[in-house]
Amino acid sequence: MKNPKKIIIAVTGASGAPLADHLIRQLAYRIPEIHIIFSSMGEKVFRQEVGVPENLSFDDYFSEFHSIRIWDSGDFSAPFASGSGVAHAMVIIPCSMKTLSAVANGYTYSLIERAADVMLKERRTLILVPRETPLNSIHLQNMLQAGKAGALILPPVPAFYTFPKSLEDIKAYISGKIMDSLNIPHELYPRWSDHGDDNPKRS
Ligand SMILES: Cc1cc2nc3c(=O)[nH]c(=O)nc-3n(C[C@H](O)[C@H](O)[C@H](O)COP(=O)(O)O)c2cc1C
Repeated sequence: MKNPKKIIIAVTGASGAPLADHLIRQLAYRIPEIHIIFSSMGEKVFRQEVGVPENLSFDDYFSEFHSIRIWDSGDFSAPFASGSGVAHAMVIIPCSMKTLSAVANGYTYSLIERAADVMLKERRTLILVPRETPLNSIHLQNMLQAGKAGALILPPVPAFYTFPKSLEDIKAYISGKIMDSLNIPHELYPRWSDHGDDNPKRS
């Protein structure tokens, strides 16, 4: 997949909503169409962790971006609920262990789960950003199963060879790794080859 033009971002109720917020904002001025779905718990955790008040709708929160459309997680009229309504890639960030389990087992109850299932059956790019620690064997089995079905498992684990100085650096690194997998050019984090002894980030 080169230059994806239509991307689905699903936000579920795991911790890590600021990562979703960062990724959405990075993609929003690079990609013509971003379709966002919040699960019910995803919405709650996002409001809490990012600090979006109850009286501000997500349409208003993201109103500066014309590329963004928000979908209700029960709205199966969304085009990407079917394989015929093409989306080029989907990222579930953060991905709760519950949604991971649904994706790994083909349990397509919500629009998020159905859209993910469609991505797998159509052999399109699906990236899961699972957040839990520690992991039990059920979580690990589900990651293996989803990975075997074609999902890319991309845990939000920072690298330290980039010498992050702030939460912003860590968010940029995770968004950058996801955008690498989506084939979207960026300069969000310094590459390994950028690190010489004179690297200013190291000091
Ligand atoms: C503040 C908060 C943080 C949570 N963090 C996680 C988490 O990191 N990982 C996880 O799997 N579930 C987490 N949960 C639990 C999920 O929200 C819960 O399992 C929910 O049913 C997931 O549903 P969803 O996948 O439809 O969003 C958290 C819940 C709350 C309230």
